[in-house]
Amino acid sequence: MQAKYLNKATDLAKDLITRAVSHGDIVVDATVGNGNDTLFLCQLVGEKGKVIGFDIQDVALERTREKLSEKNMLDRVVLINSGHENLKDYIASGVSAIMFNLGYLPGNNHNITTRYETTLKAIEQGIDRLKKNGVMTVVVYPGHREGLIEKEKLLEFLSTISQGRVNVLKMEFINQVNNPPLVIAIEKK
Ligand SMILES: C[S@@+](CC[C@H](N)C(=O)[O-])C[C@H]1O[C@@H](n2cnc3c(N)ncnc32)[C@H](O)[C@@H]1O
Repeated sequence: MQAKYLNKATDLAKDLITRAVSHGDIVVDATVGNGNDTLFLCQLVGEKGKVIGFDIQDVALERTREKLSEKNMLDRVVLINSGHENLKDYIASGVSAIMFNLGYLPGNNHNITTRYETTLKAIEQGIDRLKKNGVMTVVVYPGHREGLIEKEKLLEFLSTISQGRVNVLKMEFINQVNNPPLVIAIEKK
């Protein structure tokens, strides 16, 4: 049976992002993939806002371009074919939200997946670029090997960041089998 409110980690992430974003804002989709989060962010920022999206796979960026084109929202997005670990080269400060949806592109090569070394760099750079009260969400998938390592390294790193700089929240389903996804949310102070 499906739950209504506490069903998908990605929906919980969207709820938190919705609180932090207004029309006209600049936001980041750090893992564009099939473009679902990019589309969601484009709707949140409206005509005057901008979504900056990163992915290392052409196929992901192409699919997303098509999706946004169908919705007439292409002019709200800048899609960058580069790893999110290079975020600092593309984005100045003042970003109100950043979404990470880690792992691999569903239906594609599972070996092309986010890896903790680059994810940690990107998160560190992203926190720097968030504006005050800006929010970052990270959906983590420990159900596959690389994702489990990523979860452990992320939690280790994030639990050491000063609480004067950010608040870090972990939301985890504790009664589900098979290493369910979890959400990490970070608010800049
Ligand atoms: C789970 S999918 C993202 C799903 C997407 N947010 C959506 O709404 O459809 C993860 C994506 O991260 C991408 N990725 C892997 N390593 C990356 C990196 N270093 N920088 C940016 N994207 C990366 C993969 O190519 C894949 O498309």
